Amino acid sequence: MKFLVFGSLNIDLIFSVDHIVAPGETINSDALERSAGGKGANQATALAKAGMEVYMAGKIGTDGEFILGLLESYGVRTGHVLRWGGATGQAIIQVDKGGQNSIILYEGGNGALMNGEAAPIMSAFGPGDMVLLQNEIPLTAELMRTAAARGITVCLNPSPFDQRIGGLPLELADLLFVNEIEAEALTGCSGSAGPASILEELVFRFPRAEIILTAGRGGAYYAHGDLRAREDSVDVPVVDTIGAGDTFTGFFLAARQRGCDVAEALRLGCKAASITVSRRGAMASMPFAGEVF
Ligand code: RIB
Repeated sequence: MKFLVFGSLNIDLIFSVDHIVAPGETINSDALERSAGGKGANQATALAKAGMEVYMAGKIGTDGEFILGLLESYGVRTGHVLRWGGATGQAIIQVDKGGQNSIILYEGGNGALMNGEAAPIMSAFGPGDMVLLQNEIPLTAELMRTAAARGITVCLNPSPFDQRIGGLPLELADLLFVNEIEAEALTGCSGSAGPASILEELVFRFPRAEIILTAGRGGAYYAHGDLRAREDSVDVPVVDTIGAGDTFTGFFLAARQRGCDVAEALRLGCKAASITVSRRGAMASMPFAGEVF
């Protein structure tokens, strides 16, 4: 069984700040770090660090070669990553004193992926394999249709949530990973309804998908058919939250693949994410399998 993560690769510029900058304000940062990121590359890393066989597909410019070196060091196969003459995707990230972040994306190579580039890569995967997709590249809808037609399990994390989500064939998702903001946007429910009832609305709208709802400090929820599970988050000092959701997704999927039931997979996903938030950075802060399983 192979995982294909077809998604974004970014250069993250992480500014450590006192507070997230306000409109019209100029502030100094305490530190600047340049590292590898992108929700696609982060989730591929989480799966690989969790011991899975993972293939990354996406597009970078010449400034992004170091990302591939890092992915390979974690065991991610990068032979399906395409090149172009422009820049690699960039993320300007502010991390405040409490570890919360805000992100501005420049899509670069992620946005330069073209129709027709997905099919040849997908042809290397088939029934029994899983594709893990996010919303930082323009091919997600095409990838969902191609994967479903080939009998590949479709795992979708529709993040970040923007107008492109409306064009996705969400009914093709076998597993749907959403945070509270994405869940509210998908259902039209207000956050005041609470995660448990928003979860029920997701089940109603996407009855064939396994739904995994992450609620930050509120833990994680699972629903499919009549099955429900919930796990508290692990209370640790937060250094920065970058990549926490990506870590949860990778370790939840890896735990299921290793034969864990959903309650145990939620627990292990939360444990892995708690390790990520207690360290600085995205990929580098993610735990290895031995720290979680
Ligand atoms: O999920 C975290 C990631 O979101 C960062 O690494 C950044 O690149 C953005 O894609």
